Amino acid sequence: MDPNALTADDFEGRGVAVTRALRESHPVVWLDALDGWFVTDRDAIDTVLRDEEQFGTDSPEFKPREVFGPTMLNLDDEEHTRHRCPFDPGFRLRTVRDRYMDLVTDTAEHLLAELADRSPCDLGAGYASRLAVSVVTDALGLALPIDEVRGVYNTLAAAIGDYRNDPDTMAAARGARAVFAEALAPELARAARTGEGLLGDVLTSGSDLTEEEVLANSLVVLFGGIETVESTIVNTTWCLLSQPHELAYTRRQDAWQAAVDEALRFAPPIAFVGRIARRDAQLHGAAIKEGDQVFASILAANRDPGFVDEPDEFLVRRGRAGQYLSFSQGVHFCLGYNLARLEGAVAVEKLFEMYPDLRPVELPPISWFTLVRPVGGLQIHLGDRAS
Ligand code: HEM
Repeated sequence: MDPNALTADDFEGRGVAVTRALRESHPVVWLDALDGWFVTDRDAIDTVLRDEEQFGTDSPEFKPREVFGPTMLNLDDEEHTRHRCPFDPGFRLRTVRDRYMDLVTDTAEHLLAELADRSPCDLGAGYASRLAVSVVTDALGLALPIDEVRGVYNTLAAAIGDYRNDPDTMAAARGARAVFAEALAPELARAARTGEGLLGDVLTSGSDLTEEEVLANSLVVLFGGIETVESTIVNTTWCLLSQPHELAYTRRQDAWQAAVDEALRFAPPIAFVGRIARRDAQLHGAAIKEGDQVFASILAANRDPGFVDEPDEFLVRRGRAGQYLSFSQGVHFCLGYNLARLEGAVAVEKLFEMYPDLRPVELPPISWFTLVRPVGGLQIHLGDRAS
């Protein structure tokens, strides 16, 4: 295979086969299509994600930096710690369970009940997206209807994905940020007064984050918690519907969390994450230059046969899906890990519990490029509601 003949369409349609072939023949390779190095070797990926001295995220050319400004997502070393630590307590397992279990359960039930007379429906838009947006809206205390929160998200996502640097797209992102700031202001005032909730934790953490920095990091929380969770719910459902024996096993064993974990391994919502080389480096024999972009393929890591048996099979019984990297690793390991897994497991369990005869209209192919999920969405017939 000639890696530089690869196009975005190859990754989109044949991502699993392409990353497998690259891992076997070009485990660290420069790809013009990405204007950077693409890494599919598991050990090299570990180095990229864990060795913060060599591979960082702090670069003015990095799109998230341009759109959000400096935040935990795109700072290194002490500055990263300064931005992230105040947000950590609000995402610990016990806090997440206490604060969000009932909210996620009630919201899932409510949204599913609303869908009853809308079958067939789009699982992503009709359920998964609405659930993810509701939860993050509640966590941040945003004074905004969920459709508008989704609109803010869409505008930011368009700016992050805009490699043509269209000035209108950046202007729209600034507008979305202003809408977000206005919607966050009442909660910031309340949190400062009461010390309650996620932002209450942040403001009482003793950190020296400015209000602007709290705002920018809150925007990253919003950004991190929507399409990723939507994909998780849709992909898990896709996997279970395409493998009836795995669905039967999941039902029998009440293994919804394991099913979500295995779907996260099999079809990671984020296919790769980027870093900037902070100095010249050797990576699996490749000479990386300071300033080069380096992309670690999570899809390749999750399906490395050296780490997972039968990597191309969706097998719920493998338990926690072991060493999957869907939430990255190292200092940027997903802040929302506990919340995301909780949302995924509750959402999928409730879906199959309330609509036991659920079936797909069809099982569309999956796009394996930047965001992994069915091309064109997943349409489902709900069937009768369980009594
Ligand atoms: C299954 C759903 C999710 C997946 C697959 C996911 C994946 C990821 C990945 C891969 C990263 C690291 C990016 C990197 O290494 O550069 C990340 C970071 C992050 N995620 Fe998630 N995420 C999910 C859900 C969430 C949720 C629900 C939230 C919050 C509500 C969230 C908030 C964040 C934040 C704030 C960061 C930045 C952490 C840092 O840079 O220190 N994520 N996520």
